[in-house]
Amino acid sequence: MHIDIITVLPELLESPLQHSIMKRAQERKLLTVQVHHLRKWSINEYGQVDDYQYGGGAGMVMMCEPLAKAIEELSKDRTYDEIIYLTPDGEKFNQKIANTLSLKENILFICGHYKGIDERIREHFVTKEISIGDYVLSGGELAAAILVDAVGRLIPGVLNDETSALFDSFQDDLLAPPVYTRPEDFRGWKVPDILLSGDHKKIEEWRHEQSINRTKEKRPDLLDKE
Ligand code: 6GU
Repeated sequence: MHIDIITVLPELLESPLQHSIMKRAQERKLLTVQVHHLRKWSINEYGQVDDYQYGGGAGMVMMCEPLAKAIEELSKDRTYDEIIYLTPDGEKFNQKIANTLSLKENILFICGHYKGIDERIREHFVTKEISIGDYVLSGGELAAAILVDAVGRLIPGVLNDETSALFDSFQDDLLAPPVYTRPEDFRGWKVPDILLSGDHKKIEEWRHEQSINRTKEKRPDLLDKE
């Protein structure tokens, strides 16, 4: 999979994509991520990419021209399966969307800033609009980093244990069960006996039951779906 990201703050995206699983995915060439500074397509020598909004009101709007030129130039190199604008008024991101996106070859993310991007870019280029939750961030960069992580780890071969994503919370609309590691007894706080029993069938049953109970308690809304 290849992901391009258009942003006015490329620095914000550097660190999140260079560690751990994201690092491994890129080293293994299963995922390539390229961050593009929108200023490269600015309208003048001052690096301008935004302007006052028509109709008045506080806050700048990201202009059509730099974004259109950026999208068109990047589109010469590859055909995007999705051009995704990250915005608080987009569809709320979840595991199902992550699963769907993980099957794509080429994705372009556009990070909004200020008051957002000129509506005409949304109408003519953007194929999908995604929000990461009902709160406002100063820009789409951190949201883009979250999407790249959530989607990138689902690409086959990225996770060490290929099956492990299958047991993530949310993959079956259930939260993951509790987990324990050494020691068996920490300050008198004991690991549940069943996990030490060696009876794999019983352990799986216990984990499933724990998942259901945990979901009922913490996220009953997940059980009401469909
Ligand atoms: Cl994708 N962008 C911004 N700026 N704020 C958000 C968001 C995205 N998702 C939730 N809040």
